[in-house]
Formats: sequence, structure tokens, C-alpha cells
Amino acid sequence: MSVPGGRPQMTATVNQRSDARGVARALPTSFRDPAEAPVVDDLLELVGATPLVRVRHLTEGAPGEVFVKLDQFNIGGSSKDRIAIGIVRAAIESGELRPGQRIVDFGAGNTAIGYALAGRATGHPVTAVVNGLLSPEKENLLRFLGVDLVPGRADVPADDPENWAVIAERYEREDPSNWWARQQSTHANPATHVDSTGPEVWQQTGGRITHWIAAMATGGTVSGTGRYLHDRDPSIEVVGTQFTEKANDTNLLQIARREPGWESLERNFPDNIDLDVIDRIEVRPRAEVIDYGWHVARTEGLVLGLSSILSLRVAVDLAQRVEPGSVIVSFSADSGRDYTSREYNAAWLRENELGWIADRYEPAG
Ligand SMILES: Cc1ncc(COP(=O)(O)O)c(C=O)c1O
Repeated sequence: MSVPGGRPQMTATVNQRSDARGVARALPTSFRDPAEAPVVDDLLELVGATPLVRVRHLTEGAPGEVFVKLDQFNIGGSSKDRIAIGIVRAAIESGELRPGQRIVDFGAGNTAIGYALAGRATGHPVTAVVNGLLSPEKENLLRFLGVDLVPGRADVPADDPENWAVIAERYEREDPSNWWARQQSTHANPATHVDSTGPEVWQQTGGRITHWIAAMATGGTVSGTGRYLHDRDPSIEVVGTQFTEKANDTNLLQIARREPGWESLERNFPDNIDLDVIDRIEVRPRAEVIDYGWHVARTEGLVLGLSSILSLRVAVDLAQRVEPGSVIVSFSADSGRDYTSREYNAAWLRENELGWIADRYEPAG
């Protein structure tokens, strides 16, 4: 327990300034209504209906309001619980996934956690092909859940034997007990967001949402939710976000803008990035996003994963330019807790040429 006045003295940092701002508003006098606390028979019922939280300090004085959709509230800790359940259920229903088969897919780790939960319930073990960007927190959790991890790479050509998609395809081709879930291309991925995330956001904002912003990997979140929202109100702007470095690697902007020769650039372009739905794509450099992640934690107290911060950065910038009354919803796929041994760790930043960020928030000495 902390005692009043017992807080250790710190040098003047962003930390202290933001703490001073944080105590300026009244604290809640009660917690959430016990009547809203769910009781479930199956842990997979604890997916969906995630909260929206208003961003308070970062948008001070801006004409637009910003809300973050906190999908880390799903039981497995990320938005990917939704699509893992949706993909596995659709494949069981269609007979594509046969009893006892092993679910194989590649990705950043979150979907594999979702597959592990869905697979545990339905009797399917899981193999995840991962790359070097997998956070140690997620790696440990995947091992803890009994997921078989296979190293692969995303930064090599699509026909390279080390490419993570090539590895997933090979697992399925060479061993019939494996089934490749294909989150990048299966319709069940965006369809899950059409059925769940879209209606939630629409209902939570009372139909007032004007902008939907989500980071893109497979593209399922931005496309599926965006499709639902466009069907309700075509004037809602759907914005996909990506790290500048990844957008450059995949030629995302050239493809999205249909620049000459775009067809031949499509090698790393997931089918579920639906350019009929996405109105605009915004990119931000990874280092800038990491820095903003620290700033957001120290101002709002919101601890968000990096793709969530990427979208929030775009949302907060947009809030300055929009019409008064605009309601911007920015998607948070996972929590910043998954990044505290790397990007949200001062020592790691200093070892990885990002010491300037560490110096802003945890000055040495
Ligand atoms: C942390 C995180 N953010 C964002 C995304 C992007 O979501 P989507 O695949 O629906 O585009 C993913 C997907 O891998 C993710 O793991």
C-alpha cells in the first residue's frame, strides 16, 4: 500500500508533470454497476462488447472528440480473439477443419493466442509461425498455452523458404494433419468484424461516429468494421494506419493509390485489406509512435500496444482538423503490457538506438 506523501521524489520529467495533471479531476466515487458484471459458462463468451474510453488530455482544445475502443478487454488480451473464434468456427462448420487437426498460421502472436483458446475448446492444437518482432511477453504466453512456435520471416520475398507464409503453406501441404487458417485472406476474418466490432462501435457512439481508425496487418479490422459502418452511414471516414517502415516494405501506398505497376507490387499485400472500404491510409514512423506511446501513458494513463498508439496518433492529429461535433474512434488491438520488455523499456531503447526516447521519460542519472 502506498502512503500519502510516501511517493519517492523524482527529477522533473514528463512523468511528474503528467501526474500533476492526472489528479486535477475528481476520481469516481463508485465502480461499475454490479448488475453489468457478466457470469459466463464458457470463457470464450468473454470476447466482444469491449469498452470505449474518451481521450481527455491529448485532445484538449480540439474540435473533434476521440474515443479508443479497448479490445485488450477480450479474454485473450487482444482483438484477435474475435477473428480466431470466427475463423475456427467457420472452418469447423464448413468441414474444412476436421476433428483433431492442428491449426497453423503466421502472424504477430495475438491471433495465435486466440487460436489457442478456440483450439483448446474444440480439440485443435496450434502451431504459430512467428518472426523476430514477437514480443517476449507474447512468446512466453504462447508457450504457456502450449502453442508450438516456429520461427519465420516477414522481411524476405514471398517465395523465400524462410518467408512465414511459405512455412505455413508447407506445413499444410506436407502433413495432412495440419490446417492453415489463412487469417490474411479468409473471409471469416473481416466478416467477424462486420458482425461484432462494427455494431458495437455504432451502438456505443449512438451512431455519432464520423471517423473509424484502425491499424492494418491482415486488414480485417479496418475493412470489416469499416464495411459495417459504411453500410450504416457512407459518410463515415474509414482510415487505415500502418508504420512507415512496413508500408515501405510492402509498397502499401503505391498499391493503395494504384500507382503505375501496382499489380506487380502486391506480393506482401493481404487480401483482407479492402481498398473499396478504406478511404485513406496514414503512416507514421515506428520511433515516433514508440515515443508517443510513452507520452500517452504519462498523460492519459492509457497503456496501449504500438499499433493502437499508431492509430491514436493519427486520431489525435485528425481531431485538430475536423468539424466540431466529429466523433473519432481509434482502435486498440492490444495492451502496452505486452511491450514492457522492449519498446516500453528504457534500457531496451538505449540498447537499440532509441535512447533519445528513454532520455525524455527516464533521464539517466
Ligand atoms: C497488435 C496488432 N495490432 C493490429 C493488428 C492489425 O489487425 P488486422 O490484422 O485486423 O489488420 C494486429 C494483427 O495482427 C495486431 O496483432
